[in-house]
Amino acid sequence: MSSLDHVRLKLNKHMLKNDLHGDQVRSMFDAITPVYDRMNRLMTFGQDRSWRRFLVRKIAPQPGEKILDLATGTGDLAFEVLRQQADVSVWAGDFAVQMMKQGQQRQHAERIHWLACDALSLPFADDCFDAVICGFLLRNVEDRNRAQREILRVLKPGARFASLDTMPPSGFAKPLVWVACRFAVPLLARLMTGRSGAYRYLGDSTLGFASPSVLLDELRSVGFEAGGMQKFWMNSVAVIWARKPS
Ligand SMILES: C[S@@+](CC[C@H](N)C(=O)[O-])C[C@H]1O[C@@H](n2cnc3c(N)ncnc32)[C@H](O)[C@@H]1O
Repeated sequence: MSSLDHVRLKLNKHMLKNDLHGDQVRSMFDAITPVYDRMNRLMTFGQDRSWRRFLVRKIAPQPGEKILDLATGTGDLAFEVLRQQADVSVWAGDFAVQMMKQGQQRQHAERIHWLACDALSLPFADDCFDAVICGFLLRNVEDRNRAQREILRVLKPGARFASLDTMPPSGFAKPLVWVACRFAVPLLARLMTGRSGAYRYLGDSTLGFASPSVLLDELRSVGFEAGGMQKFWMNSVAVIWARKPS
């Protein structure tokens, strides 16, 4: 069996356990919009901001470039791009329109091109972005392989891709992260929102997700030149990056 077959096998196992259909994912995120940003800050003790800063530094936006934040949600990564490089054209796409409406209330939102779109069928021409970034898309998207191929398609030759996501824990942190995923985060969500469903899904999908090295293998298998990874927070979060061949 080739290493790619192993990757596919792992992926399929993961899908059986955790996958929701696209419309369920969309309604889930639309429904948690009012608490989404606050929960992110609370669950991560504000650390998600530094992971986002790291990701954007990794793609190093240059003046005049066109950058897509795919699955933008409320736009945290898109705003971070503008903070690091004001002279760029930033596009922010998601299929959860309520999440984007929330982002559009934020200061400087008018500097971003917001667009309702599905990562599985992007409404952009081939070879048109200098960089595509995403936060927590690859764990949530219904068909990861198709999303990866779409991202590759819209990138210019030589252009960069970076993704931030949670990852299944390993080593000494495993029991801690497991307790956080199974109990602490759903409990926090229940206290904050009266419901914990979406945050139980966060825990389940994190524990069943592919590791960064599997994700990099997948990116290589669809045609990216793989770059690297950086893990954070007891190896429970990772940024991975890659490039479209020139
Ligand atoms: C956990 S949120 C992340 C939002 C934001 N990127 C962040 O870093 O906070 C995941 C986002 O992925 C979006 N998403 C999932 N599947 C998608 C798809 N097929 N097309 C577009 N957006 C998708 C959801 O709507 C949701 O807004």
